[in-house]
Amino acid sequence: MSAARRSSRWPAAPPVPADETDPILLSPPHLGEAEAALLADAVAGNWIAPLGPHVDAFEAELAARCGVGAAAALSSGTAGLHLALLLAGVEPGDRVVCSTLTFVASANPIRYVGAVPVFVDSHPQTWTLDPDLLEHELRSSARRRRLPKAVVAVDLYGQCADYARIEPLCRDYGVKLIEDAAESLGATANDRAAGSFGDFGVLSFNGNKIITTSGGGALLADDAGAIARARHLASQAREPAPHYQHSEMGFNYRLSNLLAAVGRGQLRYLADRVAARRAVFDRYRIGLGGLPGIEFMPEASYGTSTRWLTAVTIDPVEFGATSEEVRLALAAAGIESRPVWKPLHLQPLYRGCRTIGGRVAERLFEHGLCLPSGSALTHGQQQRIIEVVRGRSRIGRL
Ligand SMILES: Cc1ncc(COP(=O)(O)O)c(C=O)c1O
Repeated sequence: MSAARRSSRWPAAPPVPADETDPILLSPPHLGEAEAALLADAVAGNWIAPLGPHVDAFEAELAARCGVGAAAALSSGTAGLHLALLLAGVEPGDRVVCSTLTFVASANPIRYVGAVPVFVDSHPQTWTLDPDLLEHELRSSARRRRLPKAVVAVDLYGQCADYARIEPLCRDYGVKLIEDAAESLGATANDRAAGSFGDFGVLSFNGNKIITTSGGGALLADDAGAIARARHLASQAREPAPHYQHSEMGFNYRLSNLLAAVGRGQLRYLADRVAARRAVFDRYRIGLGGLPGIEFMPEASYGTSTRWLTAVTIDPVEFGATSEEVRLALAAAGIESRPVWKPLHLQPLYRGCRTIGGRVAERLFEHGLCLPSGSALTHGQQQRIIEVVRGRSRIGRL
């Protein structure tokens, strides 16, 4: 709702349908009714400090939802990746394989622990980590006796990586597997839930995710002992002594009881949010699918994507405009869209890192665009977006 419409100082303004003028964000939070009630419960009980009953319940509900043994609720997904690498035994100088087509937070924790990232390209059919390239890298590094210590496989834009291939590969080579499921809570692969693959799964509840606690994350694993240790490290590694004994380095990574209450409310709506985002995708497919030069991120045959973000590629010659020209046209109409992630091997921060392949991710970055995909996006808002995109196409300009 615009500020003018919200203000009681503008009673004479004619009613304007919310769809027609408001800015449209890429993936804004979508609250239901449960969150406020749970938050009020946390406040009423004075459980506003870190930890408390909502943290415990949120952890149990997340573990059950993802089908894993245990979960630790954390201050961010990045914290979850950092702890996963520590628990995987990654040490300074070790090498860690990571998808190149992802947000920088997938790789930064590799550097936090002093390890060296090795980037691997995407498969063109899933846009996620290419298992053939991973196999090649593991085989050749085993031959050189330089096996990586861990693999961070990223589930992109709501779609799981190909774990039927990646899990056995990592197991065979004795390499720990960390699933970066920050963008994919609610997705499945081979009837298993995102977050349940490999040795550790990591979720994010950042403000733009399918469910949010404003900021937050979780570490998931079947190994309850490992999760207990993650909780310990996330609480400054404080040992149970009245004077606060510390024998090792810890972090302040726990989620507050207030935010866990919000997360519990959000989690109740997860199935609805997945259905809504998939419906958004279906409407884009109907509205834009016939335009020459537009292609949608493919859905992998092995699973169900949440379509957290609807991502397209735009061939400038066939379509009649570049993805950047479309992004600018949308921005001029008050609509937020975003290029597909810049591959990490192209980021100045990671310049010079060993990279296996890279052309697929580079092409997706060059031509890719993520369209507004919020689960509360109205049909009218989506029609506005579709009209702007169509208007930039060769057909729309006729
Ligand atoms: C793929 C990916 N990994 C990790 C993160 C980091 O999560 P957080 O922002 O909760 O630290 C994000 C998003 O923010 C992400 O998209």
